[in-house]
Amino acid sequence: MTDHEIKINFKEYNSLTELNQTDQALCHEAVKAMAGSHSPYSKFRVGAALRLQSGKIIYGSNQENVAYPSGLCAERVALFNWGANHSDDPIEAMAVTASTDEFELLQPVTSCGSCLQVLAEYEKKQNKPVEIILFCNNGPVWVMNGVESFLPFLFFENRLNVEAK
Ligand code: THU
Repeated sequence: MTDHEIKINFKEYNSLTELNQTDQALCHEAVKAMAGSHSPYSKFRVGAALRLQSGKIIYGSNQENVAYPSGLCAERVALFNWGANHSDDPIEAMAVTASTDEFELLQPVTSCGSCLQVLAEYEKKQNKPVEIILFCNNGPVWVMNGVESFLPFLFFENRLNVEAK
């Protein structure tokens, strides 16, 4: 038996003002994206903004449905928009934020496993990691470089290949 340990690396900033101007601007776009949230059931608004290599910003917000599983997270709304309409313009960074009137959010929201799996697919497709910036109104900012920081044992399509042992 061998014991293994995996370390993940991420940066924590006390506030958005510590980020560079480009990332700060992207975070402000994520805040704007929350305006499109359709969240009558959870009352939890999530906004995501993707900055593409060309400088273009694309948006997503959580879209809920009375048939609950039909809804979709903000990250996947933005990422599938990228996949469908902008995939020739690589994603440099994704900023995600959330807010609710029900309580104060003191820590950033971290993306769910399904959103991370979708992000992983597109990192693979564009052959480049995406900088992930997670923040909330009055809490710290967490910055990760690429989805593998979250999912070191991620399922990649090369596992479908008989040569990948
Ligand atoms: N949600 C997101 O949009 N992104 C996340 O990272 C976590 C959760 C949404 C799904 C649902 O509309 C609401 O937040 C509460 O779970």
